[in-house]
Amino acid sequence: MPASSSAALASPTPSSGTPSTSTSTTRSAKATPSSSSTAAATRSARRASSRSTSGDRPWAAEAERGMPSFTTVREIVAGVGSLSCVGQRAAALGGRALLVTGRSAMRQSGATDKVLALLAQAGVEAELFDQVEHDPATTTVDAGRAACRERACQVVVGLGGGSALDAAKAIAALVHEAAPTADFVAGKPIGQPGLPFIAIPTTSGTGAEVTKNAVISDRAARLKQSIRAECMMPAVAIVDPELTVSCPPWVTAAAGMDALVQAIEAFTSVNATPLTDALAFDAACRLIRWLAVAWEDGANLAAREQCAYASLMAGMALANARLGAVHGMAHPVGARYGLEHGVICALLMPHVMRLNRDFVGDKYHQLSVAAGGNIIAFVEALVARFGLRRALDGVAIPREDFPAIARESLPSGSMKANPRKFTEEDVAAVLEGLVGKA
Ligand SMILES: [Fe+2]
Repeated sequence: MPASSSAALASPTPSSGTPSTSTSTTRSAKATPSSSSTAAATRSARRASSRSTSGDRPWAAEAERGMPSFTTVREIVAGVGSLSCVGQRAAALGGRALLVTGRSAMRQSGATDKVLALLAQAGVEAELFDQVEHDPATTTVDAGRAACRERACQVVVGLGGGSALDAAKAIAALVHEAAPTADFVAGKPIGQPGLPFIAIPTTSGTGAEVTKNAVISDRAARLKQSIRAECMMPAVAIVDPELTVSCPPWVTAAAGMDALVQAIEAFTSVNATPLTDALAFDAACRLIRWLAVAWEDGANLAAREQCAYASLMAGMALANARLGAVHGMAHPVGARYGLEHGVICALLMPHVMRLNRDFVGDKYHQLSVAAGGNIIAFVEALVARFGLRRALDGVAIPREDFPAIARESLPSGSMKANPRKFTEEDVAAVLEGLVGKA
């Protein structure tokens, strides 16, 4: 049966304006001196720039001041069969919906027709926007915003993998803005409230159903970047593992490795708290146990359900703790050489972990215990078993590009959350590891 839970948690705000004692104690007890000082420097820098623009969103103000704060979607409905609630949830948010999805996979699997039927049964008029491509472009989001306005939609429903959910999230958030989507990819803040958004993932990977950012590509500017705002958090996440059964092995592996990397990076982030640790570690453990099973036998619904929960929990963790150097590098490297996000994350991960291992306290040890052996070797073995290095066949990553990749990746929010303070030399060392084994 679907399990429903509501959550919008914020940690108590100490009257002194300092981070809560319990959180900072736990964090420093597990971290090495280097990672503690990095975390302290990060928190200190945040406090120094804490001119809140969060209005009536106190949790956002606390996050800006570097205080531990935790936010997530208003409602998560999860479990086999949970898709059946989509009509009722959409009807509660508005009578007209824009259903945003990809160009073919969801139609072929029957999921699009199923959601349209469920919306109709609940009396919700639905307009279909099924033009989302892999790595959605600003122009696609512009087209979706126009369709949403023309039909006066009151709620947006996103159905698909990370690309479809990110496009749907951006459409919902920007529908009432006048400026083109490219401006927001370039950093323009969102000023107008958008529409409520229901997220329905069909892969177990990005966790986009519980994150407040959308990765959108401005092809003209050769820019692939997150639009990020508190208001982009979905209203409802519906996580039905049955929707992932049609994922082919390659997609299962790429998405699942993204989820595993996200779980590990959130677990070792300088922003990690006991709340995000619980989610991230549990997510990693589930993927360590079940990802290969789901890859081997896509029809194994128990394995699919474990991976769906893991991806969901890793998403909740990263939305609050952020990520690390793998994700800092994955966008520029993926965009330059046309590599899938989950695949490049998986390929970069072991090299980053070798550089990070002296800066994560006992957290790799905890993961190694869960994996029954060294966690870095475990990640490498999964990459080999899934055959992900095939993605590099025919791809040239010239060493002359390394400095530019470093310049693009070092300022990212993910990089700033990495436990080791990455330098240009560190980025080059990771890329050397990637190229050297290609
Ligand atoms: Fe990712």
